[in-house]
Amino acid sequence: MNFALTDSQQKIQHRARDFAQTRVAPIAREMDERGAMPLELVREMGVLGFLGGPLPSEYGGEGWDAVSLALCYEELGRVDSSVRGLMTVHTSLVSQCILKWGTAEQKQKFLPKLARGEWLGCYALTEPNAGSDAASMETTATQDDDEFVLNGEKIWITNGNIADVAIVFANSNRALKHKGICAFLIETNLKGFAREKMRGQELGHRASDHAHIRFENMRVPKTALLGNVGEGFKVAMSALDHGRLGVAAGALGVAQACLDASVEFARTRRQFGQRIGDFEMIQSVIANMAADVDAARMLVYRAAWLKDEGQRATRETSIAKLFATEAAVRAASEAVLLHGGRGYSNEYPVERYYRDIKGLQIYEGTSHIQRIVIARDLIGKEM
Ligand code: CAA
Repeated sequence: MNFALTDSQQKIQHRARDFAQTRVAPIAREMDERGAMPLELVREMGVLGFLGGPLPSEYGGEGWDAVSLALCYEELGRVDSSVRGLMTVHTSLVSQCILKWGTAEQKQKFLPKLARGEWLGCYALTEPNAGSDAASMETTATQDDDEFVLNGEKIWITNGNIADVAIVFANSNRALKHKGICAFLIETNLKGFAREKMRGQELGHRASDHAHIRFENMRVPKTALLGNVGEGFKVAMSALDHGRLGVAAGALGVAQACLDASVEFARTRRQFGQRIGDFEMIQSVIANMAADVDAARMLVYRAAWLKDEGQRATRETSIAKLFATEAAVRAASEAVLLHGGRGYSNEYPVERYYRDIKGLQIYEGTSHIQRIVIARDLIGKEM
């Protein structure tokens, strides 16, 4: 068993770390306060090769393996979950999904622009009445000659207001339940596509864009189908296999950031005449956090490595997402407490990690859903 990263993986890790620390970290607090991120940052990520990283060179990518992609998400997650989230949706849920399910024409048309960051992507699955139970979606796709007519609504769509491209899921025959679902790859400037910001202020991920999208008799050509009629649920689930690894790696980054901040604070903050890091209660917190970070890292890298070995890693990806997000929630909570009053203010970044991490525990399948995926894979379907 070899735990060492290859030269190429290390180079990608350093490129991502350098961008995260020098370009993102200095403006993370300002983005959180402003509730948006500068689009130049996204363009820079395109130029640096992050947005097309895992795509083959013929589509403008660098052919990264899954471990390299996880390393990039980890480094971004360490400084800002909104920036990492934008990339996970764009690259893993959208581009990698097109690479797997798209026709030659779709790949040629969409992937190079997505790889350069010229176009941004979003993934429209969740609805007001279909969150965890994704198969119960109410958005309909009615066939009319060579077109489909979409009607319905989607909520909590990350990148939804700024995306040029959307993967949209709709049911063409609700009697067939999930077997009636179709996936469509559409451009968002088509008539009948309406979008607005989600109401209310989010707890975290405040620099992310979250949209409420409505389809009102939106006509899309049959050629917009991604996969065949009725294959949409499989398209959605296989995309989530990619996306969930991205969320798990991002959560690992958050947990690492909480550990780094806690160690630094324990070394410098003095109370009762000594560094607080010399108190055993503080040492215990830091030791538990370090063990959690190491375990999360092993699980995230293992799931990525399995993908690189060409093996299906749905269960291992869910284990990685479940453990890494829960570990990061614990780490953020302890980091705020360890920082005392300072941790309760946005003067220190642990306050933002604490708010952001709750989102990772929820989106792309809550911790409850990850447990369902893991347990069903172990127990199997009743014949
Ligand atoms: N890959 C390919 N196919 C898969 C699959 C996978 N990972 N997982 C399931 N399938 C297939 C099954 O094999 C089955 O196929 P057959 O009909 O041929 O047997 C079919 O899909 C149905 O599977 P299930 O019976 O397991 O489906 P279910 O309705 O019981 O749902 C679930 C399973 C795991 C609970 C699923 O609904 C789920 O993951 N829910 C959570 C949804 C979610 O993550 N939403 C977040 C959306 S994105 C987001 O957060 C916001 C954003 O902006 C990105």
